[in-house]
Amino acid sequence: MAILPIVKYPDPRLRQPTVPVARVDDEIRALVRDMIDTMYASNGAGLAAIQVGSDQRIFVIEGQVAGLPEGAPALVCINPEIVWLGAELDGGDEGCLSFPGIFVPVKRALRARLRAMGLDGQLYEVEGEGLFARAIQHEQDHLTGRLLIDMVGALKREMIKRKLKRAAERGDDEDEVAEAEG
Ligand code: NI
Repeated sequence: MAILPIVKYPDPRLRQPTVPVARVDDEIRALVRDMIDTMYASNGAGLAAIQVGSDQRIFVIEGQVAGLPEGAPALVCINPEIVWLGAELDGGDEGCLSFPGIFVPVKRALRARLRAMGLDGQLYEVEGEGLFARAIQHEQDHLTGRLLIDMVGALKREMIKRKLKRAAERGDDEDEVAEAEG
């Protein structure tokens, strides 16, 4: 078990291309375990591998957010694809562990269906609504380098950059991680 450092904006690694997982082996299993530990340590709703410096196409979503039975720590999504988005939209503030303390309103599909591989190497599909659907869409964006800051206008973008820069200078960017960040 290890808690990994989270890559924060504007680190260019967040924009790197991701590669599909070729085989679920011990290395991938260890990475996923560390991602889950890191997500819980940061109170995140989800976490993508690219946020801990890995280019593998993987994300995890917190168990409760994913509607898993109690005791199941996280939904593991390997080589995920969104196969369906509902037409109905849902507005809400969204956070991201790579943008500590920043929340921006992002319209997302209220319902989303995901196809992914689990740690057992089997494909599965899952449909989410509300926060779960939002987490699916947010994490899938990470795998293509799309970030929260890309979803706001120029003024707000500059404000976010300044705020993160100030926080990094103060060295307090590890603090005050709110819920529902991924
Ligand atoms: Ni995120």
